[in-house]
Amino acid sequence: MAATTRLRCLLLLLVQLLLLLSAASGARWQDFLRLPSEGDGAAGTRWAILIAGSNGYYNYRHQADVCHAYQIMRKGGLKDENIVVFMYDDIAGSPDNPRPGVIINHPAGGDVYAGVPKDYTGKDVTVGNFLAALLGNRSAVAGGSGKVVASGPDDHVFVFYSDHGGPGVLGMPSDDYLYAKDLVRALKQKHAAGGFKSLVFYLEACESGSIFEGLLPKDIGVYATTAANAEESSWGTYCPGDNPGPPPEFDTCLGDLYSVAWMEDSDVHNLRTESLKQQYEVVKDRTSAHGTYSLGSHVMQYGDQHLGAQSLFQFIGTNPANDNATFGRDNSLRLYSGAVNQRDADLVYFWQKYKKSAEGTPQKAEARKRLLEVMSRRSRVDSSMELIGALLFGSDEGSRVLGAVRPAGQPLADDWDCLKAMVRAYEAQCGPLAQYGMKHMRSFANICNAGVGEDAMAKVASQACAVAR
Ligand SMILES: *[C@@H]1O[C@H](CO)[C@@H](O)[C@H](O)[C@H]1NC(C)=O
Ligand SMILES: *[C@@H]1O[C@H](CO)[C@@H](O)[C@H](O)[C@H]1NC(C)=O
Repeated sequence: MAATTRLRCLLLLLVQLLLLLSAASGARWQDFLRLPSEGDGAAGTRWAILIAGSNGYYNYRHQADVCHAYQIMRKGGLKDENIVVFMYDDIAGSPDNPRPGVIINHPAGGDVYAGVPKDYTGKDVTVGNFLAALLGNRSAVAGGSGKVVASGPDDHVFVFYSDHGGPGVLGMPSDDYLYAKDLVRALKQKHAAGGFKSLVFYLEACESGSIFEGLLPKDIGVYATTAANAEESSWGTYCPGDNPGPPPEFDTCLGDLYSVAWMEDSDVHNLRTESLKQQYEVVKDRTSAHGTYSLGSHVMQYGDQHLGAQSLFQFIGTNPANDNATFGRDNSLRLYSGAVNQRDADLVYFWQKYKKSAEGTPQKAEARKRLLEVMSRRSRVDSSMELIGALLFGSDEGSRVLGAVRPAGQPLADDWDCLKAMVRAYEAQCGPLAQYGMKHMRSFANICNAGVGEDAMAKVASQACAVAR
């Protein structure tokens, strides 16, 4: 017998044995045997969890980012069973969408919506489901497809989150927040349970640095980059008025600056030849208008920096069509101008609606009303916080205490339960902070850090909001 034939017989025998074994134990053959195509030299499976934490057509860009990311994972070779998608799914079918059933993430881009799995949509996009899916805990999931990141100790996990945020929090479509402490606790827990060999977290949100600053350990195999540091907005892009802007029939931003930077870079390269660190540099350059910060934000790295040397391929595979497109410096030279601060991107939408509707029509009056409502809701939240600061600490000290930023390396808050309680106390008196109001999370954290109790907070919030209402 030739050596190859003998080897083949041996393999066949092994497979039969495994089949027998797995039939007996109820396990699947995948539990024993990994095909070489899955690992390409490195053992382990690639998993991805992709989440857009917003809803509403004016937030088009977050779900567009997530759909685009899904297409990258698929072209990279990940299987649907290893990709968990959270998106509200109210964009493609929205009456505002000029291209029904289609979502784009670039002015000249094609549809990124086709084929995206609807694992968790609508009211199933929650903090509880997201953490359960990340942890691989199927029994803790409520609703949705039930798909979770059922990864093991040899596996590589990629997480991408695109949404609004605030100091120490990320948004969800409901008025529910994912607090940094709970997210980092889940990452530690998954690491301790042998849930991955390494995990990469890409995060787009305002003040996204505050999610990991002083909280993410360097020794749990997690590498993270964020769109912004702990105290600034992140930015939407391809917005009306930008160059390039969206096609004229779109009244909304199509993407986010940091998100499209990593995805458009991943779209065109052989990701075997590009490390995480190299992509970080490219994304940082683009997100800061080539280091000028004339617009954009500071892209940051957190966690285990050694992982930065690993190839992107390890986590998100690579598109075989790019096999000859080796990573170089060419990619950072894209020229374009304009981008809109994440928090103002919804105003752009309401403004566009107003501007575009014909003078004297009911549509114009309605658009004007909506724009003014959004603006006055914002100023109500801002003035209530200013009053709360003054009531608690005096009118001179109030804004200083609430606005104080801790030095780099320190977490936003010492007591996260206190932070949650403060937010609850505020919302009970004043209504939801919502997307825009999340920017005040640092004030709530500072109120906790100053030792104010929940009852005192409830009292001043009720006073402040009675005035501000
Ligand atoms: C999974 O979630 C359930 C329900 O919340 C919980 O009781 C259980 O302890 C969790 N399992 C693990 C391994 O964390
Ligand atoms: C890469 O280049 C080789 C050699 O020129 C060629 O045979 C191959 O088809 C190219 N692959 C792709 C995906 O373009």
